[in-house]
Amino acid sequence: MDDNWEPVFDIDATGLPAVPPGISREAHIAQMDWEKLTAEARQCTACELCATRTQVVFGVGNRQAEWLVIGEAPGADEDRQGEPFVGRAGQLLNPMLLAIGLQREHVYIANILKCRPPENREPAPAEAMKCRPFLERQITLIQPRIILAVGRIAAQNLLETNTPIGKLRGRVHHFGPARIPLVVTYHPAYLLRSPREKRKAWDDLRLARRTLAAESPDPTRRPVDS
Ligand code: URA
Repeated sequence: MDDNWEPVFDIDATGLPAVPPGISREAHIAQMDWEKLTAEARQCTACELCATRTQVVFGVGNRQAEWLVIGEAPGADEDRQGEPFVGRAGQLLNPMLLAIGLQREHVYIANILKCRPPENREPAPAEAMKCRPFLERQITLIQPRIILAVGRIAAQNLLETNTPIGKLRGRVHHFGPARIPLVVTYHPAYLLRSPREKRKAWDDLRLARRTLAAESPDPTRRPVDS
């Protein structure tokens, strides 16, 4: 057989391969490379947010990052620019990362949802569920050494719990079968409204940095994707 053989899937109306028969959407997404995953996400119509988005906000940063930062969902600025955390919250997230020695380009940044909920309402559970396979595949491809969940929505979705954020922060959780260490902190938008909580966020960031430092480094990683 030809080494380059690939199964030919049905082509849907967008010109992209549809989910092949006999395989779930989740399983289909779970075997995609970056190129296919990006294309699939950009043409996603799995929930109604596709009708109101300007564009899909896939994620940004170093695909070999040790740090993966996960927020809630794109806001108006992110929806316009196609990149997570570029609005006011992002302007606080960047110095928060720098405070622990991380430049924005060195980490990978994504959200629970890839499309903006109208009026910045909270993600509906069904929307988060439809979007989850994309995020899970990103996590598998990146293989981060630590996940920083920013805000209640990110923390509760990733940890599949309703526990209040105040009880989730301050300790190390683990995500998925690879048991990736996960630290929860407050969302920068909340910190803009409640600046006195910045001290706790600083404690969380230091906890995350300590957690990573306690593990043995991976010598195969490059600091920035090239
Ligand atoms: N808030 C988020 O949670 N994510 C963004 O990308 C922007 C604001």
